[in-house]
Amino acid sequence: MTTRYTTVAVGLLATLALSAGCRGNKSSDPPIHPNWNMDDQQYFQPQEDNDWFPDHRAQRPLVAGTVARGLLKADDHLYRGRGPDGRLVDALPPSLPLTQALLDRGEARYDIYCAPCHEKSGHGNGIIAQPGRIAAGLLVKPPSYTDPRLAAMPLGYFFDVITHGKNTMRPYAAQIPVEDRWAIAAWVRVLQVSQRAAIGDVPADKLDQLKSGGAQ
Ligand code: HEC
Repeated sequence: MTTRYTTVAVGLLATLALSAGCRGNKSSDPPIHPNWNMDDQQYFQPQEDNDWFPDHRAQRPLVAGTVARGLLKADDHLYRGRGPDGRLVDALPPSLPLTQALLDRGEARYDIYCAPCHEKSGHGNGIIAQPGRIAAGLLVKPPSYTDPRLAAMPLGYFFDVITHGKNTMRPYAAQIPVEDRWAIAAWVRVLQVSQRAAIGDVPADKLDQLKSGGAQ
């Protein structure tokens, strides 16, 4: 009798020892977790149905006025091109100082996003704005930026046109980030100023370069 009990006891101990594993061993099993607290709770996937709500949406609509952290766009100048009086501003936002790098960026983005219609020089004869297309009514002829009406517009106007579009021109807010829109607006200003400049506007040290036809 005793031998039988001993055998069973030894067998149980051996099973326990084998199943418990040894300290330091690697295991893909989750650790023993006696106190669950609230570690494992019921949750819903974003598009899941939930009968508890009258509209059955588990994903609740945002409370009106909710702003995600880091996405508060309170800077009217930067995000809307407008000053405290609500009018379009004629300056770059203070966070984007006018530098050569900003203009280079503006030129590069302009050449990608605007030149196909507006032409690299801004005269409105881009590859898409061919006379045949315009005659067929597929596209309104883009105006030249040197048009006196546009030349008199504040810088914020160009930011605004890129952001919201204008008449038949589509908005580009979805494709072009805010900072790049300002860089492009600054480049449009460069096109306007450079094409209406008088020889007296050229700095003395650049005059020789200009006369010899040299770039930069
Ligand atoms: C697909 C062609 C196309 C592209 C790309 C395009 N535009 Fe235009 N844009 C137009 C057309 C067409 C008009 C004239 C719209 C009208 O009056 O119906 C226009 C008008 C404008 C005007 C004048 C608005 C006014 O007051 O008359 C500005 C400024 C302008 N675009 C800037 C830009 C800038 C900057 C970009 C690049 C971010 C750009 N556009 C990209 C076609 C384009």
